Amino acid sequence: MKVYLDSLGCKLNRSEIEALGRAFVQAGHQWVQSCEDADLCIVNTCTVTQAADHKSRKVIRRLRRANPTARLIVTGCYAEMCPQEIKAIGGVDLIVGNKDKERLVELVGGVKRQTPSVKPWPRSHTRAFVKIQDGCNNRCTYCIISLARGRERSRPPQEILAEIEALVAAGCKEVVLTGVHIGGYGRDLGTSLSRLVEDILTQTTVPRLRLSSIEPWDLRPALLRLWENPRLCRHLHLPLQSGCDATLQRMGRRYTTSQYADLVAMARRSIPDLAITTDIIVGFPGETSKEFAQSLSFVTEMEFARLHVFKYSARPGTPAAEMPHQVPFAEKKRRSKAMLKLARECSQRFHHRFLGREMDVLWESRRKDDQHTWSGLTDNYIRVTTRNEHNLANTITPTRLTDLVEGEMYGEVEKEIEELRK
Ligand code: 5AD
Repeated sequence: MKVYLDSLGCKLNRSEIEALGRAFVQAGHQWVQSCEDADLCIVNTCTVTQAADHKSRKVIRRLRRANPTARLIVTGCYAEMCPQEIKAIGGVDLIVGNKDKERLVELVGGVKRQTPSVKPWPRSHTRAFVKIQDGCNNRCTYCIISLARGRERSRPPQEILAEIEALVAAGCKEVVLTGVHIGGYGRDLGTSLSRLVEDILTQTTVPRLRLSSIEPWDLRPALLRLWENPRLCRHLHLPLQSGCDATLQRMGRRYTTSQYADLVAMARRSIPDLAITTDIIVGFPGETSKEFAQSLSFVTEMEFARLHVFKYSARPGTPAAEMPHQVPFAEKKRRSKAMLKLARECSQRFHHRFLGREMDVLWESRRKDDQHTWSGLTDNYIRVTTRNEHNLANTITPTRLTDLVEGEMYGEVEKEIEELRK
């Protein structure tokens, strides 16, 4: 059977869809890149905001139109929370909640395990997203994900280590650890995230290891010490959500802006050239113009490398949806625009610091319209573009960062690629 897989939203969704793809291939199926070629299409949906619901519905409709004869299965957080809405779209053959998504290979046809194919998955092998846990025990007042994903459950360390070793054997150069609340990893198993990261660094040969989003309060000294190892990417995504203490309190976040600033300072002291990225919600219920101004000013102070800006979206069943003083949509839009403008300025300032520097870049892909233009990432999350006649795919090369044009960093590979391969 030819299987097409798609995912929306977070890196955890992406890691699940990649693992599913590998499981289908192991079971003797073919993972195809285009939905038109598929016998089966599976989409892992997102419900974090209303906009995510909307996008999920759009993808479902697009898949149905593009391939009317394929079997269409919808899973993920939107499928878990709103199966009726998905049914109403029409044309979906099966809706699978989060609890059953790992059994999808069995669910679609009781296939027997066959000899694993030599080529484990068709995508670029460069960066792989690996799920280490699911669920979240925090109760941020705006968030529906703890309802959609349930309580925290960690994957056993041995399983994660084995998966990473297999990925490395298949050529993968960077592993990104994902989950809903990765800082909570291991509490149910009597271990911790820092132990896991240490084990991955000592027991596998993965060239680069990156953490996805981690809650500020989980950034402990024991974890920070691990960055002494240069294989751990100098990048922390620390969701701030708001730069105003009163808003943070209504959000149910467990820190003040001054505690957050202390953590950032501590992280920057231990990890030079660290990229700190964040998520910000604008227009949370009760956010006054003054509170929003405080948020803008604190964000400016923090010198983030990148900001993801979300307009607050009332999610059914969450406490914030019932709070008074909901902010009108037009105002949320205005605030989002202002925060996005600041995001571009922060990113520009961060990138500018690295102009002229030589950094290692892991090259991922060529531009579709130009075979000699490559895109890759530094360990501290600077996306770099270069022109090079050689095949740079999946190589890590010292690269001089030469130009910053409209927010895009350009670089030059320092040595002849043949020389680097020796
Ligand atoms: N409205 C807007 N943004 C939200 N996020 C989570 N819930 C909501 C919501 N109800 C954002 C947060 C989180 C990111 C993944 O999504 O910023 O960090």
